[in-house]
Amino acid sequence: MEAKTKSCVVLPFLLLVAIFMQQCVHGESQVPCLFVFGDSLSDNGNNNNLPSTTKSNYKPYGIDFPTGPTGRFTNGQTSIDLIAQLLGFENFIPPFANTSGSDTLKGVNYASGAAGILPESGTHMGANINLRVQMLNHLFMYSTIAIKLGGFVKAKQYLNKCLYYVNIGSNDYINNYFLPQFYLTSRIYTPDQYANILIAQLSQYMQTLHDEVGARKFVLVGMGLIGCTPNAISTHNTNGSCVEEMNNATFMFNAKLKSKVDQFNNKFSADSKFIFINSTSGGLDSSLGFTVANASCCPSLGTNGLCIPNQTPCQNRTTYVFWDQFHPTEAVNRIIAINSYNGSNPALTYPMDIKHLVGF
Ligand SMILES: *[C@@H]1O[C@H](CO)[C@@H](O)[C@H](O)[C@H]1NC(C)=O
Ligand SMILES: *[C@@H]1O[C@H](CO)[C@@H](O)[C@H](O)[C@H]1NC(C)=O
Ligand SMILES: *[C@@H]1O[C@H](CO)[C@@H](O)[C@H](O)[C@H]1NC(C)=O
Ligand SMILES: *[C@@H]1O[C@H](CO)[C@@H](O)[C@H](O)[C@H]1NC(C)=O
Ligand SMILES: *[C@@H]1O[C@H](CO)[C@@H](O)[C@H](O)[C@H]1NC(C)=O
Ligand SMILES: *[C@@H]1O[C@H](CO)[C@@H](O)[C@H](O)[C@H]1NC(C)=O
Ligand SMILES: *[C@@H]1O[C@H](CO)[C@@H](O)[C@H](O)[C@H]1NC(C)=O
Repeated sequence: MEAKTKSCVVLPFLLLVAIFMQQCVHGESQVPCLFVFGDSLSDNGNNNNLPSTTKSNYKPYGIDFPTGPTGRFTNGQTSIDLIAQLLGFENFIPPFANTSGSDTLKGVNYASGAAGILPESGTHMGANINLRVQMLNHLFMYSTIAIKLGGFVKAKQYLNKCLYYVNIGSNDYINNYFLPQFYLTSRIYTPDQYANILIAQLSQYMQTLHDEVGARKFVLVGMGLIGCTPNAISTHNTNGSCVEEMNNATFMFNAKLKSKVDQFNNKFSADSKFIFINSTSGGLDSSLGFTVANASCCPSLGTNGLCIPNQTPCQNRTTYVFWDQFHPTEAVNRIIAINSYNGSNPALTYPMDIKHLVGF
C-alpha cells in the first residue's frame, strides 16, 4: 500500500492514470503475493524453451484459455490459476521463464512439467526444472525483491505475508519409481523407504524457505490418484480398473505429507502455518456432469501421453475428467480449486482451507 501510494504521487499524470486503472480500481488480493512450486499440474510456460519433450505450448492445449496455448498442460486454466483468482489476483502469476512485463512482487510460478522432488525424476524425457533448481530460482527472486524493497530484512518481512503453494511428487513415481527400465529406485527402495526419502527432501526445502526467505504460509498439495490416469490404466490393466500399486503409493505419500504438516505446525506453532490439500477427491461423477473418466479428451496421444499437435479435441470438455493421458481438464481443476480454497469438503483440506490460511 505504502509503496503504491508513493509511486502514484511521484509519477506524471498520464502514467498515474494508467497505474490507477491497473491497480487502484480493483480490490486487493487476500495475500500480496503467491509463489508456486511444482510440476505440469502447475506449469504455465517454464518448459517452453527447454530441450524436452514435455511441452504443451501448441494447439490444442489452451483451446479454452483466453490467449491460446501458453505451456499449461490442460485445455484452459490450471488449478493454481483458479486458486489465484479466488484469492483476488487480477493477473496470472507469471512463469519464472518470462517475468517481463509482470510485477514479480505479486509472485512467480517456478513449476516445470516432468519435474520431481528428486533431480533425476523425469529426465529420460529431457530437461526439466527440478525442485532444487526451483528453490534456487526463488533465492534469485528473493535477491531481486531485496533490491526493490531496500534490503534482505525488508524482503523477508514482505515474503512473510506471501502464500507458498507446493504441488509436486507425481513424477517421482510416474517418471521414476514406476519406470524400472529407466530408473533404479524401485530396486533400491521399498515404497515406504522411497516415500520417506521424498518427504524428507521436500521438508528440507520447506525448512529452507522458512529459514532463508521468511516463508510463513504453506500450502502442501498431496498427490492425485496416479493409478487412475488413462495412461496408468491403458499401460497396466486391460480390464479398465485403476492400478492399485500406484494408488497405494499415493496413499502412502499423502499420509506421510499430512503428518509432516502436523510436525511443522507443532514445530513452528505461532510463527507459521502449513496446510495439506487432499486432491484424491472422489465425487467427480455424473452428478457434477463428468461422464468420461477413463479416456482423454484428446483422441490422439503421443508416446509421452500428451496430445498430438493440431488435432481436434472432444467437443464437450466439461464432461471429461482427463484432457490428455495425465492431466485433468479445466472443469476438474475448477472443482479442485474451489475445494482447496473453500474447504467445502472437510476431508480434503487439513487442518484448514486456503481461505482460512490467508487470514492467519
Ligand atoms: C512474456 O510475457 C509477456 C507478458 O505477459 C508477453 O507479452 C510475452 O509474449 C511473453 N513472451 C514470451 C516469449 O512468451
Ligand atoms: C484388473 O486387472 C488387474 C491386473 O491385471 C487385476 O489386479 C485386477 O484385480 C483386475 N480387476 C478387476 C475388477 O477385474
Ligand atoms: C470406459 O467406461 C465405460 C463405462 O463407463 C465403458 O463402457 C468403456 O468400455 C470404458 N472404456 C475403456 C477404454 O475402458
Ligand atoms: C495396496 O494396499 C492395500 C492396503 O494396504 C493392500 O491390501 C494391497 O495388497 C496393496 N496392493 C498392492 C498392489 O500393492
Ligand atoms: C483424502 O480424502 C479421501 C477421500 O475423502 C480419504 O479417504 C483419505 O483418507 C484422505 N487422505 C488423507 C491423507 O487425509
Ligand atoms: C455436454 O455435457 C453437459 C453435461 O453433461 C450436457 O448437459 C450437454 O448436453 C452436453 N453437450 C453436448 C453437446 O454433448
Ligand atoms: C465458499 O463457501 C461459502 C459457504 O460455505 C459460499 O457462500 C461461497 O460461495 C463459496 N465460495 C466459492 C468460491 O465457492
